Amino acid sequence: MTSVVSRPERRPPARALPVFPWDTLAEARTLASAHPGGLVDLTVGTPVDPVAPVIREALDAGSDEPGYPTTVGTQELRTAAVDALARRYGVTGLNAGSILPAIGTKELIAGLPAQLGLGPGHTVVVPEVAYPTYEVGALLAGAAVVRADSLTQLGPSSPTLLYLNSPANPSGRVLGVDHLRKVVEWARERGVIVASDECYLGLVWEGDAPSILDPRVCDGDHSGLLALHSLSKTSNLASYRAGFVAGDPTLVAELLAVRKHAGLMMPLPVQNAMTAALRDDAHEAEQRERYRARRELLLPAVEAAGFRVDHSQAGLYLWATRDEPCRETVDWFARRGLLVAPGEFYGSAGARHVRIALTATDATVAEAVRRLA
Ligand SMILES: Cc1ncc(COP(=O)(O)O)c(C=O)c1O
Repeated sequence: MTSVVSRPERRPPARALPVFPWDTLAEARTLASAHPGGLVDLTVGTPVDPVAPVIREALDAGSDEPGYPTTVGTQELRTAAVDALARRYGVTGLNAGSILPAIGTKELIAGLPAQLGLGPGHTVVVPEVAYPTYEVGALLAGAAVVRADSLTQLGPSSPTLLYLNSPANPSGRVLGVDHLRKVVEWARERGVIVASDECYLGLVWEGDAPSILDPRVCDGDHSGLLALHSLSKTSNLASYRAGFVAGDPTLVAELLAVRKHAGLMMPLPVQNAMTAALRDDAHEAEQRERYRARRELLLPAVEAAGFRVDHSQAGLYLWATRDEPCRETVDWFARRGLLVAPGEFYGSAGARHVRIALTATDATVAEAVRRLA
């Protein structure tokens, strides 16, 4: 008889991950859908406006490309990203070696801890209320997660990776130069990598939102710093899957080495489309103004309906509260045919807020305003 060699039990990674929270909105969705005017969905921040012709033409022009693309991306793409960060956000000191394309920023965030070599025994710090994928990426790598918004909360501990998200999803909170400088200084003393998710940096309504790579923040020294950028919201390219990381060339080279082996290549037509989007500021400014107009309608309507809107100086959401459990607020909106996201999706500190997306058409926003009146 052949003896069977024992092996460890297979552990599907999904078992370690949080439950997918959107399923828990089914009842509120049913209630909101029963409204005679139909459902107005302000939950997911998915873009609804057209893709600019300049981008679509570039996509089309790159469609007859039979060969494999490269993980590192074309020189044109990386140069366009360097130039766009300089022009739009005043980031200096980057070059093509500081940029790496990502097949959407979510993919990058979900893989970042593992691709940077974190695993059991390492800790990832994420904001108290946060985009859920930061935690998912840490758990997939087997690392621990700590939620903190201030360095004092961390005490003497030394995490390996710390996420910032300014302007933030879901709260629209913006971190200023002084705050970011303190984080960079603290991280440098401890050798902590800072990953700054800047997907909403181009969507600022009040004041200024600096990049972690802004010379006022890092004195032009990018070591240990990674800025994560997405074209999903600023250029309406969510369906293209177009993002990139910029920053410390040593870390970028490490990521490239892993991502090459994993076959994480952005399709070439998308690289070309993204290059065109990064070279053109006009479509980006136009989109920003669309969102600004929607926010100017929705924000006062939400306040007039008795809510306090916290932060929300930037980004694509209103972070609203009536100082009650968020599910009660979700139901209040659902009775008016409006679906909003409960703040608890983003961490227990969000349990008394809801997130209202500005990513709806003008007609939908106007309808939401009518129902709130
Ligand atoms: C804070 C934050 N980071 C990253 C992403 C992912 O963007 P992408 O579409 O590039 O994957 C989102 C998308 O909503 C987001 O809100």
